[in-house]
Amino acid sequence: MEFMQALIQRRSEYSLDPNIGVSFQTIVDMVADVAVHVPSPYNVQSHRALVLSGEDHGDLWNIVRESLVEKIGEERFESSRSRIDSFAAAAGTVLYFIDDPSVDLLCEQQPSYASNFPTWAEQSCGMFQYAVWMAFGDMGLGANLQHYNPLIDSRVRERFGVPEGYRLVSQMPFGRIVDPVPPRTTLDRGVLVSSSCW
Ligand SMILES: Cc1cc2nc3c(=O)[nH]c(=O)nc-3n(C[C@H](O)[C@H](O)[C@H](O)COP(=O)(O)O)c2cc1C
Repeated sequence: MEFMQALIQRRSEYSLDPNIGVSFQTIVDMVADVAVHVPSPYNVQSHRALVLSGEDHGDLWNIVRESLVEKIGEERFESSRSRIDSFAAAAGTVLYFIDDPSVDLLCEQQPSYASNFPTWAEQSCGMFQYAVWMAFGDMGLGANLQHYNPLIDSRVRERFGVPEGYRLVSQMPFGRIVDPVPPRTTLDRGVLVSSSCW
């Protein structure tokens, strides 16, 4: 039941602040621990993360602001400004990547599954993100999931020294939950039941 309760309580929390009451190292250790235990095809472990806080976290969201303004112009950016500001107001951001060369190598080693591996790498990285999101909840913290890639990829690579071959997949701001989101609305249960069931 506790596990189900944790699943139910995980939400996309957008009202976050930096007062998390734990050290940056505690967050890094948590993400690293989760990474080790995430399943992946042939145990390829192609998922990667970079945890940003302080100035680095601020710089990431400045990169997002600048990239969006260049793409859509100052006027249209105004409608996104408060949203970006809310991410910048969090304690930090986890960047998720897929190490594409490790997936390419697996395709060479296991050619009969080669067409599946890129999709499976995405799925495995999704499991990683979800597990970290759950672990934030376990620490009493909130998070949400953003996708400003590929717009920001080259600037992120340059600013944070991201290794060649790592492809940015998502950005997860995290922090103390200031104003929790309202209860979720559910339209239907996403499970089909076989007619031959008991
Ligand atoms: C693959 C994936 C991509 C998502 N991308 C975004 C995103 O770019 N921006 C965002 O605010 N939320 C994003 N979300 C979060 C969903 O909008 C959110 O999970 C959904 O509305 C249900 O709300 P909940 O997380 O509170 O349960 C994404 C979720 C998933 C699984």
